Amino acid sequence: MPVPAPHPDARAVVTGASQNIGEALATELAARGHHLIVTARREDVLNALADRLTERYGVTVEVRPVDLSDPTERTKFADELAARDISILCANAGTATFGPVSKLDPAEEKAQVQLNVLGVHDLVLAVLPGMVERGAGGILISGSAAGNSPIPNNATYAASKAFVNTFSESLRGELKSAGVHVTLLAPGPVREALPDEHEQSLVERLIPDFLWISTQHTAKLSLDGLERNKMRVVPGVTSKAMSVASGYSPRAIVAPIVGAVYKKLGGD
Ligand SMILES: NC(=O)c1ccc[n+]([C@@H]2O[C@H](COP(=O)([O-])OP(=O)(O)OC[C@H]3O[C@@H](n4cnc5c(N)ncnc54)[C@H](OP(=O)(O)O)[C@@H]3O)[C@@H](O)[C@H]2O)c1
Repeated sequence: MPVPAPHPDARAVVTGASQNIGEALATELAARGHHLIVTARREDVLNALADRLTERYGVTVEVRPVDLSDPTERTKFADELAARDISILCANAGTATFGPVSKLDPAEEKAQVQLNVLGVHDLVLAVLPGMVERGAGGILISGSAAGNSPIPNNATYAASKAFVNTFSESLRGELKSAGVHVTLLAPGPVREALPDEHEQSLVERLIPDFLWISTQHTAKLSLDGLERNKMRVVPGVTSKAMSVASGYSPRAIVAPIVGAVYKKLGGD
């Protein structure tokens, strides 16, 4: 059973839709004719996106400003999704912090777990019963190559992505005969466009240009992968090589090497 075709009553949901990969996923879904629910915290940015997509592709776009790291807001949104006909869920929103956990703000670390882990898990649990009952659905989860191995100085992020990577690939195994596709997007570095030299973040300055993959290419590849029920989408040859290296090299060897690189991202 393929991922459901667009239908006026069905909605494809994209979390973290206000920029980068999420915005590209929402745009690509709209271009394929899907009506959408887009969510993130910045309502004005989402409203502008919704107007653009409706004007360009003629689709309905519902805007939901939600802080997915807030359990009350997240539950309210999950309850709404559980009651709707959700054809596709792109559980994409996620944030990262860099540096030793002991020096990072505990509140921010906890919020990151709420968003990266429960912001995926709660929404999947909300849409899953309806998808299984209809025998059709698509779930795309944005994990990361960072979830393949331990990463000192990026510990909360790497651990949160290890959770969603494993959750996604396990769930796919359970749903193969249920008609519900589950695909993990596990990219290396992805960004919208090459920023001006003076506006580049430390991460952008440390990662060479040839390693970056565009958000548009990532979105297309991810949705094509979901259509084919691919287990994991890793955009770009370099990301694939990094992914294999981090997935299969001994963890005790990988951790200090990667940790030294991420130490720089933490400001040292
Ligand atoms: N880009 C990469 O190189 C890369 C590599 C590997 C994995 N990934 C994963 O891919 C996903 C998307 O990455 P990205 O680079 O596009 O992310 P991004 O540019 O940092 O955007 C994050 C999105 O999540 C939303 N968001 C942040 N905090 C939120 C909260 N508390 N509640 C609800 N929404 C929240 C943001 O919107 P608001 O600020 O409006 O809330 C934004 O739309 C993430 O899960 C990331 O970990 C990205």
